[in-house]
Amino acid sequence: MRIVFATHNPNKIKEVLHLLPKHIDLLSLTDIDCVEEIPETGQTLEENALLKAQYVVRNYGYPCFADDTGLIVDALGGAPGVYSARYAGVHKNADENMARLLSEMKKKPNRSARFKTVIALFLEGEQQLFTGKVEGEIIHEKKGEQGFGYDPVFKPVNFDKTFAELPLSVKNKIGHRGKAVRKLVDYLKKINNTTE
Ligand code: IMP
Repeated sequence: MRIVFATHNPNKIKEVLHLLPKHIDLLSLTDIDCVEEIPETGQTLEENALLKAQYVVRNYGYPCFADDTGLIVDALGGAPGVYSARYAGVHKNADENMARLLSEMKKKPNRSARFKTVIALFLEGEQQLFTGKVEGEIIHEKKGEQGFGYDPVFKPVNFDKTFAELPLSVKNKIGHRGKAVRKLVDYLKKINNTTE
């Protein structure tokens, strides 16, 4: 089964490839020559994931899933949330986003935060949503070189390392995207069994 993951982010592709069953032939936006920026004008992660997946189905004719992720920080009233990518400006720079976050979090005693991923799937005329969350805290300075985005400032609960210090296998096991992808995979396996 060929299916597009509506992202250009090689880190996300890597994370998801680890988890998908063999019968799925995963294509990225680059693979289908979709170079334009897909509008993410929704007010929620759910809306944005649906917008992205729907865009690919309508314009490229492939079955597709898209994810949208937000970092939700309690002391900031849930910010950056759905605006996580553009927290420090339209150019979506991870270092600048983290610098703004650490600056907003100065002197905030409550460091609790969570990542939430929503995956929207459009397949065979059906639309599905899958969600994954991981609880953790925002540390005081960046640590670690792996991963991407806000990983160097996010320490998941029950770990003394950030996502940027932990191996990908651990991030996938306990992380937001891994949890959402496993729900997607269960659904795709079910569909595959009923169509065989
Ligand atoms: P999007 O879902 O790709 O639009 O991501 C929204 C924002 O969250 C971007 O700034 C990403 O870099 C960041 N982000 C998404 N997934 C992760 C993750 O797994 N770890 C850290 N940051 C992430």
